[in-house]
Amino acid sequence: MPSIKNINDFKKAKNEKKTISVITCYDYAFARIIEGTETDVILVGDSVGMVFAGYSSTLPVTVDQMIYHSEIVRRGAPSKFIIADLPFMSYQVSVEEALTNSGRIMKESGANSVKLEGGREFRGVVEALVRASIPVCGHLGLTPQSIHKIGGYSVQGRDGDQRKKIFEDAKILEEAGVFALVLEMVPEQLACEISGALSIPTIGIGAGRYCDGQVLVINDMLGMNEEFNPKFLKKYASLHDAVKNAISEYDREVKDGRFPGENNVFK
Ligand code: KIV
Repeated sequence: MPSIKNINDFKKAKNEKKTISVITCYDYAFARIIEGTETDVILVGDSVGMVFAGYSSTLPVTVDQMIYHSEIVRRGAPSKFIIADLPFMSYQVSVEEALTNSGRIMKESGANSVKLEGGREFRGVVEALVRASIPVCGHLGLTPQSIHKIGGYSVQGRDGDQRKKIFEDAKILEEAGVFALVLEMVPEQLACEISGALSIPTIGIGAGRYCDGQVLVINDMLGMNEEFNPKFLKKYASLHDAVKNAISEYDREVKDGRFPGENNVFK
């Protein structure tokens, strides 16, 4: 049985030391497959911009695209708790815009919650969303929407000042009301300390073994991109090769007249 059915189950899972499994997914076909598994939560991430749409960063992703993908995932996975990302510039300008955009995502997609990147600078936004009954998941460490400020997709929190800031931001986000916190690409020891200091669960990606949950992007964990091999990733399948081989075989069979065969024709 998945341990997350509603918002209250996040703290419950943490208290009962049940590790939370999260998968980022963007489409109906994969959502349907996830629906049939024990996976606890689906994140419709703005990584859709890079993984699905081929942009070089997550910055171009729009609120309408997040609604489109989240709604599709909801149709494929009606029973799962869904977190939908707030895309770049949908919550940074003002509390009002954050409320309007989050409200649209919740109303139009059927997601259960939203996620935003950043710490103390978004305290007021998190508080306003939570006040408006919109559950918020935090995201610290490597925050891809800040790629031009950070300068690269690298481990965050290795030096003392950064480490202190991430730790403090985690506490501030918890106080502001987030129900869970994604920690992306931070040293294992820092993630462990943050997880120990918070009453809400941490969900790690490249954050080591001691987070309260883990998240991977479905395309990555299924090995769909043979060029994407970060240290934190484990590939549970080699779909790139399997799909490429299948397509090549189809191509050969069409061209040499073996497809369609006797079994594929109507009489
Ligand atoms: O967009 C995303 O998929 C994410 C995860 C990698 C945490 O934010």
